[in-house]
Amino acid sequence: MSLIEQAAKRLEELRQAGAELPDAPAADAQRSAADATPTPEAFVRALDARGAAPHGAQATRRMRAEESGRRPVPPPEQAEELSRRVVLDLPRLKARGFVTPDAPKSQIADEFRVIKRPIIRNAVGKGGTRIKHGNLVMVTSALPSEGKTFTSLNLALSMATEVDSTVLLVDGDVAHPSIPALLGAPHGPGLLDLLTRDDLDFGDALVRTNVEKLSILPAGSRHRRSTELLASEQMASLLREIATRYQDRIIVFDSPPLLATTEARVLAANMGQIVMVVAADSTSQHAVNQALATIEGCEVVMMVLNKASRTDVGAYYGYYPNDEAT
Ligand SMILES: Nc1ncnc2c1ncn2[C@@H]1O[C@H](COP(=O)(O)OP(=O)(O)OP(=O)(O)O)[C@@H](O)[C@H]1O
Ligand SMILES: [Mg+2]
Repeated sequence: MSLIEQAAKRLEELRQAGAELPDAPAADAQRSAADATPTPEAFVRALDARGAAPHGAQATRRMRAEESGRRPVPPPEQAEELSRRVVLDLPRLKARGFVTPDAPKSQIADEFRVIKRPIIRNAVGKGGTRIKHGNLVMVTSALPSEGKTFTSLNLALSMATEVDSTVLLVDGDVAHPSIPALLGAPHGPGLLDLLTRDDLDFGDALVRTNVEKLSILPAGSRHRRSTELLASEQMASLLREIATRYQDRIIVFDSPPLLATTEARVLAANMGQIVMVVAADSTSQHAVNQALATIEGCEVVMMVLNKASRTDVGAYYGYYPNDEAT
């Protein structure tokens, strides 16, 4: 094997091991594709880079996080050790129509069992190919008040209260967070703080709950440039890290409406799956189509019809006020 072939082989091995290789100089970049085989010099530069940096994919992750001034996301168990804790008022949630661990046979529990199944299948890759970052699931809608928060919390509760999944519920509605009012999550840092403060560990922002497999990441301190923060490379890298570090967990993002804000579109760009809530009898088809057009690039989009009356759809999702809670 020639020196050049050895260099090419070694570079490929380094790449596969997750090492970040130095960019070729500008002159190199202009070389023709036929001339693109790495030179021995490139090989030496790559080895130098490896010597200066720690090994493997973990090292790459650490370098990316450090470059962005953010601490790397630790493994879930380590993060949970640092986290705060909130006790959810489960009877109150149940009275407001949410899935709770003590009522596995309620109508709402049945409905969310049906909704969550394909989402979990996509996330864990059962019965087909695994979707890239399929464990990042965003719940959104075209317009305000269609039931995004209701759906995301119910999905998270349903997944966490049955044996199948561990869930992280993220309050991605950073301008109007509604998770704290609903769950009484304690004040403290959250998603936006992780993007703006380099003294925070992921675990400092995490909140554990009395539903053993459910944790929450609050929206965090308001920021006037929240859209830019959500659109930043830092956010993309945080999401990549969460998706990888929390590979066996499902991360559900409550989000703002697609047509009323830009934040939801920006968030959607990094998601593996999108759940689009449509309020029956109130959202126009035009609005739904417009909203779908904003997330065209997303591989998996599921529609959930909310607030439908019993006569509309027979067994339907979500009862609405005046319906009898089961
Ligand atoms: N299927 C349902 N059954 C009972 N109540 C529901 C249902 N869907 C939504 N709600 C209630 O309707 C109200 C609005 O729902 P929610 O807050 O989930 O909407 P949203 O889309 O998150 O609104 P926003 O755009 O303001 O964030 C809440 O009080 C919620 O509890
Ligand atoms: Mg909401």
